[in-house]
Amino acid sequence: MVISNVCCIGAGYVGGPTCSVIALKCPNIKVTVVDKSADRIAQWNSDKLPIYEPGLDEVVKKCRNVNLFFSTDIEQAIKESDLIFISVNTPTKTFGNGKGRAADLKYVESAARMIAEIAQSNKIVVEKSTVPVKAAESIMQILKANQKHNVRYDILSNPEFLAEGTAINDLLYADRILIGGEDTTDGHKAVEKLGWIYQHWIPKENIITTNTWSSELSKLAANAFLAQRISSINSLSAVCESTGADVSEVAKAIGLDSRIGSKFLQASVGFGGSCFQKDILNLVYICEGLNLPEVAAYWQQVIDMNEYQKTRFSQNIIECLFNTVSDKRISILGFAFKKNTGDTRETPAITVCKTLLEEGAQLDIYDPKVEPEQIIDDLTHPFVTESPECVKKSVQIHNDPYSAVQGTHAIVVCTEWDEFVDLDFNRIYQSMMKPSYIFDGRKILDHVKLENIGFHVQTIGKRLQKNGGSFWDKIPQ
Ligand code: NAD
Ligand code: UDX
Repeated sequence: MVISNVCCIGAGYVGGPTCSVIALKCPNIKVTVVDKSADRIAQWNSDKLPIYEPGLDEVVKKCRNVNLFFSTDIEQAIKESDLIFISVNTPTKTFGNGKGRAADLKYVESAARMIAEIAQSNKIVVEKSTVPVKAAESIMQILKANQKHNVRYDILSNPEFLAEGTAINDLLYADRILIGGEDTTDGHKAVEKLGWIYQHWIPKENIITTNTWSSELSKLAANAFLAQRISSINSLSAVCESTGADVSEVAKAIGLDSRIGSKFLQASVGFGGSCFQKDILNLVYICEGLNLPEVAAYWQQVIDMNEYQKTRFSQNIIECLFNTVSDKRISILGFAFKKNTGDTRETPAITVCKTLLEEGAQLDIYDPKVEPEQIIDDLTHPFVTESPECVKKSVQIHNDPYSAVQGTHAIVVCTEWDEFVDLDFNRIYQSMMKPSYIFDGRKILDHVKLENIGFHVQTIGKRLQKNGGSFWDKIPQ
């Protein structure tokens, strides 16, 4: 069997870009991305796609309605397809057993039940969503328990490693494609078929195959390792601020050791995004379930350090502004969890804004890609505030950075958007209250230049000249 029809359940940050690239690279395969959200599908079929991702518009424009289709007709797409990606969300559970830690698999389960109900011919079902180890077993049980006569299923694990903001590049030039399957003749055949799709553009040696459980665990492990590097460098940023060391210099010095490597050592206000926290919490939960409390505690510390960093940065803003931000206007530059995305899931900006709002600040927020409604939704969420009306009164969203800083006491950079580096800070300084403060949570600005203009500057992992003092001042003589 050659794969000629692929369906993807879930038209999100993963399903949309991944299937667009498959359609681009495999013109002979019909790719249909389905979602239960009619709104999302309408957006995928419109000129304004539901997600911002550099390069995505071009790929979609080229393939849409040629061999790439976005549809709400899930039944038809499942019936037609040879291979089905399950790419639905797997958020952290907010209720019941494992609340706040375990992955909520209800969407994966409902996708599996739909497949079982609708399928009339053999299907290769591919877990693209990030799931706990052994999730494939549950999917198989659901499929088998509802299996129709003459319908055979193979289950594969094929986790996605793309990062937002670079998704198209990550998909086109993936470091590796990981496919986990059963160690049986049928399992091998299914792995080969999925591998064949990727071989249209990924070198064969970069497509690696493992057993299903290794593949599932590798996804959680990769995210845990990446996040661990950020928490490690962020922990050192606190040491730098207390000693006069500069965390960028430390990162460079250690990163040049080829065993360590230079990537993912950028100290920051903390990591965000929909994956790191969720997947590590899930790993911690799994370890606890396996009676491995020491392993669970080890990975939990990566999350705890991230919380510490976000809190430390937010509290420092208040301390520097004479221990009160009540009724002060503060500009927040950047709300997305990283540059080149409009995604705000788990963005550290929420923690910063929440802390400042609780202290009575008025916020002026600007982000080039996040929709204003999204910012208000995030800041009025019950996890963030008990009084959404107060938040609405205290927050103003701007569509221009210069209007967002006008008349404010301080600027807080929460996202590393390139355009912030090139802002006219002389003009900005003139328009702000004095003394004017900048808190650079991403370490992207030219701090010496800003100090020369007259700003009081604070950043992560570096004590600046004007803030004075040295480590030795702090040591009791
Ligand atoms: P998302 O929330 O953007 O998209 C998921 C989509 O699935 C939603 O549009 C939702 O409506 C749809 N959906 C849910 N249940 C459905 C059902 N039964 N039928 C049809 N549609 C359904 O999520 P995402 O960010 O694309 O993540 C998907 C998975 O990929 C998650 O497991 C995530 O951990 C993993 N992942 C995400 C990233 C990332 O950068 N976002 C990277 C790698 C892996
Ligand atoms: C991550 C993984 O990188 C990707 O492989 C996986 O598939 C999904 O999760 P993503 O969350 O989209 O991707 O972005 P990533 O580039 O990993 O950044 C995550 C967070 O860490 C962002 O808030 C980013 O600003 C922060 N970060 C990243 C740092 O603070 N310092 C760094 O050095 C790198």
